[in-house]
Amino acid sequence: MALEKELTEEEITEKGNPKKPEGEYGSLMLRRMNRTHQPLTKWALGFLNFKPDDTILDIGCGGGNTLKLINEYNPQAKLYGADYSDVSIDETIKYNKDLIDNNVLEVYKADVEKLPFRDNTFSKIITVESFYFWPNQKENLKEVLRVLKPHGHLLVVNDVYDTGTLTEKELFNVKKYNLKIRTEDEYKELFHQAGFKDIRTHKMDGEDWMVIDGQKK
Ligand SMILES: C[S@@+](CC[C@H](N)C(=O)[O-])C[C@H]1O[C@@H](n2cnc3c(N)ncnc32)[C@H](O)[C@@H]1O
Repeated sequence: MALEKELTEEEITEKGNPKKPEGEYGSLMLRRMNRTHQPLTKWALGFLNFKPDDTILDIGCGGGNTLKLINEYNPQAKLYGADYSDVSIDETIKYNKDLIDNNVLEVYKADVEKLPFRDNTFSKIITVESFYFWPNQKENLKEVLRVLKPHGHLLVVNDVYDTGTLTEKELFNVKKYNLKIRTEDEYKELFHQAGFKDIRTHKMDGEDWMVIDGQKK
């Protein structure tokens, strides 16, 4: 595509705005993320312990590939996507048209600050490469807890966290996009303060990948 040839990946990301994707560059960036986030997402989905009667929400669904993968792993689950960017909603809908047409997936434009779902709706909630943008992480986690069913799981999936040894490029991006990243212990404490139980973390050798898994009491 012409737009892609003119700019580097970094420039497309900058113009596309990963915090709230916008415009044609936002679409391009999300389609790229569908590919580049796939290994991280597949690894993380291995911790979700799917059940056929699951009702699953993806917050910050972006280009929609996480939802597509969940459907491949658990075709019987009812799926929901939420994102506060119009471009992300459009991309998720285009990418998963068949799932929407078959009533497997519903997509909502929504901010994690106030989710348009009833209490105790979801057995599982996942968010991939989005949590570090959330404005009030502790309060946002409480909102997630509200819509989770008792014993339901939240998986927060990041490919950057505070390791104390981030590269210059990673530190540059953390600053540039104002990413709110924490150490493993700080994530656990945050989940604990928000009211989660059985908080576990998983890390991938050789990568800065982390899953934080919390359960509703
Ligand atoms: C870097 S993209 C990741 C998209 C997708 N999850 C993936 O892994 O490719 C971050 C997404 O989170 C969404 N997002 C960020 N803050 C949000 C918020 N407060 N409420 C809802 N969505 C949010 C953005 O609009 C964007 O679509």
